[in-house]
Amino acid sequence: MTITSPSPTLSESILVDGLQLIGGEWVPSVTGRTIEVINPANREVIARIPRSDAADVEAAIDAAERAFPAWRDLNATARAALLFRWAQLIEEHTAEIDQLESQEVGRPHWGPPPMAGQLRFIAGQADKVQGVSLPTYSPETLGFTLREPYGVVGGIIPWNAPGPMFVTEVGAAIAAGNTIVMKPAEDAPLTPLALAKLALEAGIPAGVINVVTGYGHEAGAAIPASPRIRRMGFTGSPFTGSLIMAACAKNLTPLHLELGGKSPQVVFPDADLDQAIPAMATGITLNTGQICAAGSRVVVLRSIHDEVVERLATQMQKITYGPWHQPVNMGPLINEKQHSRVLGYIEAGRKEGADLVTGGGAPQGGDYGNGFFVQPTLFDNVSPDMTIAQEEIFGPVLSVIAVDDEQEAVRVANGTDYGLVASVWTRDVGIAVRMSRALQAGQVGVNNALGAGVIGGPFGGYKNSGFGRTMGADSVLEWTQVKTVSMRPAGAPRI
Ligand code: NAI
Ligand code: MG
Repeated sequence: MTITSPSPTLSESILVDGLQLIGGEWVPSVTGRTIEVINPANREVIARIPRSDAADVEAAIDAAERAFPAWRDLNATARAALLFRWAQLIEEHTAEIDQLESQEVGRPHWGPPPMAGQLRFIAGQADKVQGVSLPTYSPETLGFTLREPYGVVGGIIPWNAPGPMFVTEVGAAIAAGNTIVMKPAEDAPLTPLALAKLALEAGIPAGVINVVTGYGHEAGAAIPASPRIRRMGFTGSPFTGSLIMAACAKNLTPLHLELGGKSPQVVFPDADLDQAIPAMATGITLNTGQICAAGSRVVVLRSIHDEVVERLATQMQKITYGPWHQPVNMGPLINEKQHSRVLGYIEAGRKEGADLVTGGGAPQGGDYGNGFFVQPTLFDNVSPDMTIAQEEIFGPVLSVIAVDDEQEAVRVANGTDYGLVASVWTRDVGIAVRMSRALQAGQVGVNNALGAGVIGGPFGGYKNSGFGRTMGADSVLEWTQVKTVSMRPAGAPRI
């Protein structure tokens, strides 16, 4: 794992304190109430954001409705150019954006931010939204399809990777000609606000991107509740995803959901463990395990079980942790709720009879005293029905489950409600082919842990991990609806 140490001083130039973006204006919430955003390493307040509710969301929808016709009618190449310009500004502000996200998420530097690249990938699709020509029953008729934007759309994103989630959702939606109302997570809203500011500076017109901040049950709930929202995107927990879907059902609003996972890492006896062990340890500790794709279950064939557990323990003990600006591998969890949630899962693992191999608690004192830290934790002899083997922990907690053969590996790997990512570690092409087909997941990695190395892979879930795909070559199409046009001259003969 490469470590660099970003400066702890945060540049203020792209931060807007206490305000949100509606119709191109930086405004407080209607009620004037605010929420504190804290640094999860020490609970220091780093900014305040508006605590908005339905009234603010209504204002944002008004602004987005006003902006829609001109944005829809702007030629697609001009829309693409504005997105490219936005990507350029993001790149020019890489260091500031990176530090802002590090600070609010509490994450040590984890490599170059992907946002500019993600946005360019999307911008390239903006003027390639095409329909098809259709066969017709007579030569007088022309038949074709148009792909049109929905209108005003909504997006709700979580706190674990606010920058990438913001550009993925917003970029694709507006590239298609929609205008959007976004609600970032109350724990990590600053990067989205900063990115929206850069979009405005890039020349994306006022009202095309609106960012309303606040709590989920207030500002968040108001978005899918509005019949004026024509399509929704949501990333977060299955519980909240189900509430969003119910709200959308009431208004018959289409949506996509990305709801996390319980991703298995299936390790066969012929696996290259020098490759697999560090990748699995990194996979569950990167971003403190707060990644929907995190490989949280090691499903290992019994003949190499002991070696895998021993080497994983050694590897996880090497993971260093501390505040984001120190040269460490892992930061704290995002907030108090997640901290007690993750510690609760560790407790459940112990109670239900799993063997704690390493970690298992919150480090005390010194740099850790005030932060939401938890040790990299490894459980062995986990059985597939235990809570820690079934539920998404969203923390650096890895469960090892031993199996006897390939069939059992498939059964256990597929034996949760989730189906986001699955990995297979083997040198045997036959196993790789069979497992790639058998695993119920939206993404399968063979000899890699987080779906690494692919550009433009569609991302999304099977089963309760959600539906719809983002990030692929079709991501802009997902934000369009299809219109079939049949066109005949006046007076043409009847068919
Ligand atoms: P959450 O799903 O409640 O929050 C995600 C977003 O939804 C936030 O912006 C939040 O403000 C908003 N929200 C919450 N309640 C809402 C409502 N009633 N209506 C509209 N929007 C609402 O997730 P939370 O509580 O932060 O985390 C709990 C668990 O969810 C985590 O431990 C993890 O297992 C899972 N999760 C999965 C994520 C993923 O990437 N798929 C991201 C974040 C959490
Ligand atoms: Mg925070």
